[in-house]
Amino acid sequence: MSSLSVPYALGGTLTEQQRLTAQARGLEEQAAWMLDRIGIEQGSRAVDVGCGPIGIMNLLSERVGARGTVIGVEREPRFVDMARTAIDERGLRNVKVIHADALQTGLEKNAYDVVHERLLLINLPPASQEALLIEMFSLLKPGGIIALQEFDSASYVCHPEHPSWTLLLGTWNDVFHAAGGNEFVGRSLAHRLQCLGAENVEMKIHVEVAQIGEYRRTHLLSLIESMYDLVLASARISQSELRDHMSALSAHLADPSTTLIDKLVVQAWGRRAI
Ligand SMILES: C[S@@+](CC[C@H](N)C(=O)[O-])C[C@H]1O[C@@H](n2cnc3c(N)ncnc32)[C@H](O)[C@@H]1O
Repeated sequence: MSSLSVPYALGGTLTEQQRLTAQARGLEEQAAWMLDRIGIEQGSRAVDVGCGPIGIMNLLSERVGARGTVIGVEREPRFVDMARTAIDERGLRNVKVIHADALQTGLEKNAYDVVHERLLLINLPPASQEALLIEMFSLLKPGGIIALQEFDSASYVCHPEHPSWTLLLGTWNDVFHAAGGNEFVGRSLAHRLQCLGAENVEMKIHVEVAQIGEYRRTHLLSLIESMYDLVLASARISQSELRDHMSALSAHLADPSTTLIDKLVVQAWGRRAI
């Protein structure tokens, strides 16, 4: 494992597995948009680093076809098992998941057509982000594509404002920062690819209104469930206050007259020089 590797702040619980699977489903449309724009050829070799329980391996699998391969890289053993089960259940024969550190994958260098990550940078401190991008870039064949997808909270607004929204978002942000996360990483993606030496860098931002019934409507509540112990350990809030605010926010978000503007989904991709 790389010395720059840090623990995943949201942990490996069943709650977090289920959250990641629901989140991946909610982000499929935007991910498919980017992959179609990049134009992945049948027979390509692709990697999804920090793939979690599914990541975008299903979308890559369809695009690379029977002659291609997709490798998922994941460090959390429970997510590796879950991803392998999901792949078997979906019959994705061209996909394999390896248990490895994304900062030091052990995969062959200069060998892949597409190397992708989603929502891994957001959890890493700057030195680890740098190491991740260098590792991803080193896996690419000349002419291969590096693709990144991250959130940026610039647009994350609830209207009308509610005291429980303000308090829970502030608490979550503080705990996430203390754990090394940066929820504004999205805006930096194109610049990072340029610094890495990627060519033909493109960037796209999607922003949606999170509707009732969609995973993203209650994303903040799910994040707090996954980091429940860390939030309580921050000593900013007692368990009963936390539960009361979560119930109040849940009711506010279930009200059709509440508007929730989601986080930006930022995508950037570029090519390794031929
Ligand atoms: C927010 S989740 C995103 C999962 C997936 N990419 C998606 O978008 O659905 C971050 C994932 O990265 C994994 N992870 C964190 N640090 C890692 C590392 N150094 N190497 C491999 N995986 C890592 C976590 O275990 C988790 O599954």
